[in-house]
Amino acid sequence: MKRLNIKNLVCPHVLNMQAYSSARMEYEGKEGVFLDANENSIGSVTEELHNRYPDPLQADLKIELAKTVQLQPNQIFLGNGSDECINVLIQCFCISGKDKVVILPPSFSMYEHASKVMNIGLIEVLLKEETFQLNVDEILKQSQDNAVKIIFICSPNNPTGNLMDENDIENILNNFNGLVVIDEAYQDFARNKSWVNRLDEFENLVVINTFSKAWGMADARLGMLYANEEVIHYMNTIKMPYNVTQHTINLALEALNKVDVKNQFISELLTGREWLENQLKEIVFIQNIYPSDTNFILFKVEDANTLYKYLLSKKVIIRNRDKAPLLKGCLRVSVGTTAENTKFIEALKEYKA
Ligand SMILES: Cc1ncc(COP(=O)(O)O)c(C=O)c1O
Repeated sequence: MKRLNIKNLVCPHVLNMQAYSSARMEYEGKEGVFLDANENSIGSVTEELHNRYPDPLQADLKIELAKTVQLQPNQIFLGNGSDECINVLIQCFCISGKDKVVILPPSFSMYEHASKVMNIGLIEVLLKEETFQLNVDEILKQSQDNAVKIIFICSPNNPTGNLMDENDIENILNNFNGLVVIDEAYQDFARNKSWVNRLDEFENLVVINTFSKAWGMADARLGMLYANEEVIHYMNTIKMPYNVTQHTINLALEALNKVDVKNQFISELLTGREWLENQLKEIVFIQNIYPSDTNFILFKVEDANTLYKYLLSKKVIIRNRDKAPLLKGCLRVSVGTTAENTKFIEALKEYKA
């Protein structure tokens, strides 16, 4: 078991803070005359009622979610998308203007963005060229700096699509005395088991997931962060009180009863991914198609900018990653519906490179 002194790691001002408290938190019952929160007791202007503040700790949803990942509800933090989970984690553990995080470009940009907004130092350790695997020695070397509080690993990685080597991640978890975040937004599309299963082995492990991808609920804005209960406690202390709406909670509870629909989506998207990969292989100007464990594919051409603009002119919108480190000439395409995938491939076939 890898131990970690969380109290030493959390920002000192957070350590002594009390969570925002409302009268509703001091009353356990569901029935009562609720005149404590200056809500409109008469109703909402909309047909559906939205006049009551939601449960700040989303207890009902966490009980159901906990069952699906074999954790305790107090090991779960829920946010307005995993973007908010990332934000609150940084706020909790990094002192603005002093502490640092390690990011591993090319990767998901939110780790960098959220850190910059909070004036947290960034140490960038590039992934290895072509394989896009972790540069473990360099990551560990750079993380010896006591100011480094968090290492962000995205696996499967956006935008490269690959899973990070399990032994490499384990090595980092064992040798870094700060938090190691594994962002598993795309894990449902991957071959590996979730790192959630290993939370009891590493006190410094933090796993992030989202309802935005396989569940098909990006608009509901619900992200999950799984970690040891002390980390979750401090995150709950500093978060905005009503960060997840009751509407979102209800949608997620409904979704959890429809795992079979989610699995059907995954299966269709994986079929679509395979079809796209095979089609892309037939297109002569495509220089490389990177293996994907996600619902998108990264591919390389000579001139990504011209191809990107051509596709826009055909009303096919994909993501140009040409400017990202190590990704010169690369474009990222999400797996869409059969009709969308076909339209994309037809447009590519008509392109004169
Ligand atoms: C790796 C990764 N993590 C997190 C997110 C954000 O997800 P959410 O919609 O939950 O904020 C994304 C979005 O694309 C992503 O690619």
